[in-house]
Parts: sequence; C-alpha cells; structure tokens
Amino acid sequence: METKPELLHFLVALLLCAGFAMSLTSCPDCGNTTVPYPLSTASGCGDPSYKIRCSSGSLIFDTLNNSYPVESINPQSQRLVIRPASLISNTCITTDKIHQGIQLNNTLPFNITSGNTIMYLNCTNTLLQSPLNCSSTSLCHTYINGTGDATSCKDTALCCTFKAGGSSNSYQIRVRDVGCSAYSSFVNLDPAWPVNRWPEPGLEIQWVSPREPICGSQADCDGGNSTCGSYPSSNGIRRCFCNSGLVWDPINGTCAEEITCQNPGGCGSSTDHTALIAGLTCGLAAALVVSAIALLLYKRHKRIKEAQARLVREREEILNASGGGRAAKLFSGKELKNATNDFSRDSLLGAGGYGEVYKGILRDGTVIAVKCAKLGNAKGTDQILNEKAIDFNRAADDVNLAVYVQRMVEEERLMDVIDPVLSNGANTVELETMKALAFLALGCLEERRQNRPSMKEVAEEIAYIISIATAKD
Ligand SMILES: *[C@@H]1O[C@H](CO)[C@@H](O)[C@H](O)[C@H]1NC(C)=O
Ligand SMILES: *[C@@H]1O[C@H](CO)[C@@H](O)[C@H](O)[C@H]1NC(C)=O
Ligand SMILES: *[C@@H]1O[C@H](CO)[C@@H](O)[C@H](O)[C@H]1NC(C)=O
Ligand SMILES: *[C@@H]1O[C@H](CO)[C@@H](O)[C@H](O)[C@H]1NC(C)=O
Ligand SMILES: *[C@@H]1O[C@H](CO)[C@@H](O)[C@H](O)[C@H]1NC(C)=O
Ligand SMILES: *[C@@H]1O[C@H](CO)[C@@H](O)[C@H](O)[C@H]1NC(C)=O
Ligand SMILES: *[C@@H]1O[C@H](CO)[C@@H](O)[C@H](O)[C@H]1NC(C)=O
Ligand SMILES: *[C@@H]1O[C@H](CO)[C@@H](O)[C@H](O)[C@H]1NC(C)=O
Ligand SMILES: *[C@@H]1O[C@H](CO)[C@@H](O)[C@H](O)[C@H]1NC(C)=O
Repeated sequence: METKPELLHFLVALLLCAGFAMSLTSCPDCGNTTVPYPLSTASGCGDPSYKIRCSSGSLIFDTLNNSYPVESINPQSQRLVIRPASLISNTCITTDKIHQGIQLNNTLPFNITSGNTIMYLNCTNTLLQSPLNCSSTSLCHTYINGTGDATSCKDTALCCTFKAGGSSNSYQIRVRDVGCSAYSSFVNLDPAWPVNRWPEPGLEIQWVSPREPICGSQADCDGGNSTCGSYPSSNGIRRCFCNSGLVWDPINGTCAEEITCQNPGGCGSSTDHTALIAGLTCGLAAALVVSAIALLLYKRHKRIKEAQARLVREREEILNASGGGRAAKLFSGKELKNATNDFSRDSLLGAGGYGEVYKGILRDGTVIAVKCAKLGNAKGTDQILNEKAIDFNRAADDVNLAVYVQRMVEEERLMDVIDPVLSNGANTVELETMKALAFLALGCLEERRQNRPSMKEVAEEIAYIISIATAKD
C-alpha cells in the first residue's frame, strides 16, 4: 500500500516527460561538415538549445530575422564563424540592413566574441559621439582603400572601427539609417598586416558550455554513465547527471573520467587524484607552517623582551636578598669594562667551568670581583646569581651536549637545560611545546639511521606541535 504514491509519481513523471526525451548523441554530418555536440540540426541529436540549420549540405546560422552561412566550427574553443552580409552592388549598404544587421536572440547561448574587428561603413555624424574609432586614420579607411570589396564606400562621409565583445555589441552588429548603413568583420585581424593579406570577412560567435541534457527518465540518459535526476538548485528540471567518478564533458557531451592522466609511464586516475590532493594539502600545510612559525617567532621575540626585563628585575631582587640588607646595584657592561681595564689579563684572578673572575676597581675606589659568565651561557649567569650547585657546567666540560641533554631527559630534568629566557614565565602550553620539540630533537639523535625520523616526518611533527600550541593559545 505504501508504494502506491511513488508508483503514481513515477507514472506521472513518465507521461509528463515522454514529450521531451533527449539523446546525448551528436548530430550527423551536414554535407561534408561535422556537426559537433552541442549543435543540434534536428530533434533527437545535440542539445536543442543550440539549434543550427542544415540546408542542402550546408550549415546555416539563424539570427532573429535573418540567416548566415557557417564557414567553420571549432568545437574545442566552442566557436563558429559565419559569413557576414555583403554589400548591395554599387552601394555602401549591406543586404541585411532591412533586418538591422546581425541580431542574435540574447536568450540563446550564443554571443559575438571579442576576436572580431568590426568596421562600420557609411556612417552618419552621430557616430562621432560614440566611443568607436572614427578618425581619418581608422583602420576602416585602410579596408576601404586597400580592397576591392568596399570601393563603393570610398565617397561616404564616415567609417569607424572597433573590437566586438563589449556588453552592447555581444548580441548585435546594428546597421540602420541613423547610424551606419554597412559593416564588415574580420576574425583575429592584426592591424599590422598589409591589407592584401587580410583574411576573408567573418564573424566569430561563441557558445556557452552546454549543461547536462534534460531527461524525462533514466532511459534518456546514456548507457549507465549518468543518472536522471534533479537538484534543489535546478528548479525541478531533471538532467542526466554524471555518476560519481565521472564528470560532464561539455565538449564531447559525455560523462568522462574525472582527470586524464598525462603520465605516459601509466598511472590510474585515482593516484592522479591523490597526487592532486597531496599537492594541495602540501601547499596548504607549508603555508600553515610558515605562518605558525612566523607567529611563534613573533611571540617568542615579544616574550624574550619581556623575559629580559623580568630577569633584570629578578636579578636585582636576588642580589638585594642575598646582600644581607645592603643595596645591590646592577652595573652596565661599560662600567665593568672600565673597572677591569677592559677585562685585561692582569686583572684575571681565576677561571672556572662557568667562566672567569676578574679584579676590578670602581670609579669611587671600591675594589670588586667581577665574575664573568661564558658567552651565551645564561645558566652560568643564573648560577652565579643563585650560587646554587648545578652540574650543568661540570657536565658540559666532559661530555658532549647531545649526550648530556639525553641524560637530562632520562632524569626527567629537561626543563633544567632549557634557556631560562624561554622557560621563565612560560605557560603550560609553551612548556609542553618545548618538551615536545625536545623529544622530537632527541629522536634525531638516535644513532641508528632507521630509528631517526625522516625530514618529512620531522616537518609533519613540527607542524603538528605548532598546531597544538597555537590552537590552545
Ligand atoms: C564534399 O567533398 C567532396 C570531396 O572533397 C566534394 O566533391 C563535394 O562537392 C563536397 N560536398 C559538399 C556538399 O560540399
Ligand atoms: C549610405 O547610406 C545612406 C543611408 O542608408 C544611403 O542613402 C546612401 O546611398 C549610402 N551611400 C552609398 C554610397 O551607398
Ligand atoms: C523581425 O521580425 C519581426 C517579425 O517576424 C518584426 O516584428 C521585427 O520588427 C523584425 N525586426 C527587425 C529588426 O527587422
Ligand atoms: C529567443 O529564444 C527563446 C528561447 O529559445 C525563444 O523562446 C524566444 O521566442 C526567442 N525570441 C525571439 C524574438 O525569437
Ligand atoms: C584609431 O585607429 C588608428 C589606427 O589603428 C590609430 O592610429 C588611432 O590612434 C586611433 N584613434 C583613436 C582615437 O583611438
Ligand atoms: C584612403 O584614400 C584617401 C583618398 O583616396 C586618402 O585621402 C586617405 O589618406 C587614405 N586613407 C588610408 C588610411 O589609406
Ligand atoms: C559570451 O559567452 C561567453 C561564454 O561562451 C561568456 O563567458 C560571456 O560572458 C558572454 N558575453 C556576454 C556579454 O554575455
Ligand atoms: C561510460 O564511461 C566510460 C569511462 O569514461 C567510457 O569508457 C564509456 O564509453 C562510457 N559509456 C558510454 C555509453 O558513454
Ligand atoms: C572527446 O572525445 C575524444 C575521443 O572520443 C577525445 O580524444 C577528446 O579528448 C575528448 N575531448 C575532451 C575535451 O575530453
């Protein structure tokens, strides 16, 4: 009982659609001319929106009120060339002036291309107000003077030249009393060519890519490659939509494989697809990594500035606290340089793993000892300040840094080896990020090559770590 409404719908649809059953096939040759899809010379072939006429073995293009012979068709570029009207003999008036020249039905999928150079002949002065080139050097004069075709136009007042394809001339080449009484047209004309090498007159027309054909039932769609159906956007019109994995090819009017493989070595369409997706993903990932790194670098720079200010404050506090009530003072590098006679050998009192100790005399005569941390050894600086026994410097003296860091990680003391400029005041996410990066770096220290990650894996891991770090930011 429940299937009844569907069955009824189906029957109604069949009845409604029986009248406009379509075929995907191209039309048969017209004389010696191939008629490519979607051009349609008869019902039952081509796409009915693209009507063209086959008369005594010649193709004819019908405009609103007139007809023009088709000279050539290029299905790849979806263009055809028609022969424009000729002049009534011994006049400068074209034969189609009674129809106001070439008038295309602008609801049809054909329009005039910008490849046409149009010459308006025998024009009235009103054309001088137009944006067309109606000067005495205009190319139309070359045409009138140089070819035998338009000699009768020599004595007329005005002629003008323009390239077609603008919004006002996509559907018409208009000739009339109040404008121009004749015209000619050339496809892809190079003005530098001598006039005797100009091509025959022609008007190029292009057609819009055809949609999938309209169907009434599945029977109208070609052998199993498409399905008759409708989409919410298609206003209830049913079309033969290509099945998945196939795409509509508007040039051949068929459902074709989605991507054609250019690799002569042979690759399936699916791998080609994968390569495309991979390429897109890689590009996207690279862009993401670059911007994430830029963001991190910026934040790091900002944090370093803040950390440096904080460090100066903290060091003053440490000094004040350990000074037994006496006020501590931060000296500038210049003051210490002066006090130690530019850290001269003579002032050197001794050297340790953390650096060197110099004797110095301040300007007011106070004798001081200057402990000098090794360059770039921030840990040493803190050690001096805190006077805490940390085995970093001792360790660094006798083992290489990589082994040392590895040991610190094993002892779960990774944070001890991270530069305090980075770790001081870092939030949990930042600390976790540093840890993750450190573990990644450790992976790179593995002695056996197969245990080390590849560059690609490292890049992916960094991207992943950055994504986590920035997502939680
Ligand atoms: C078709 O081509 C043949 C040979 O090329 C020619 O003899 C014949 O006239 C052509 N027919 C038409 C209708 O153009
Ligand atoms: C130019 O056009 C006008 C208006 O259509 C016409 O009267 C005149 O004869 C034409 N000139 C020539 C040389 O044909
Ligand atoms: C085209 O023909 C229709 C009648 O078929 C007529 O009303 C119309 O004026 C014509 N247009 C032109 C520009 O000749
Ligand atoms: C233009 O084409 C549409 C669609 O085919 C048609 O319905 C309409 O009658 C045509 N207009 C004229 C003036 O012929
Ligand atoms: C008209 O065309 C001629 C020849 O192509 C060119 O030399 C001239 O500059 C053009 N004039 C204008 C106003 O575009
Ligand atoms: C065309 O010929 C006329 C006279 O025959 C001449 O004045 C004019 O300069 C020529 N124009 C061109 C573009 O050759
Ligand atoms: C002419 O047709 C082409 C497609 O064939 C389209 O891209 C273009 O926008 C059309 N021009 C106008 C003015 O409608
Ligand atoms: C269906 O698509 C396949 C793959 O593109 C093609 O080889 C086959 O000829 C198509 N069948 C029809 C009836 O068009
Ligand atoms: C149309 O089909 C032909 C062979 O049937 C093929 O060579 C050509 O590549 C197809 N055109 C397009 C755009 O796929």
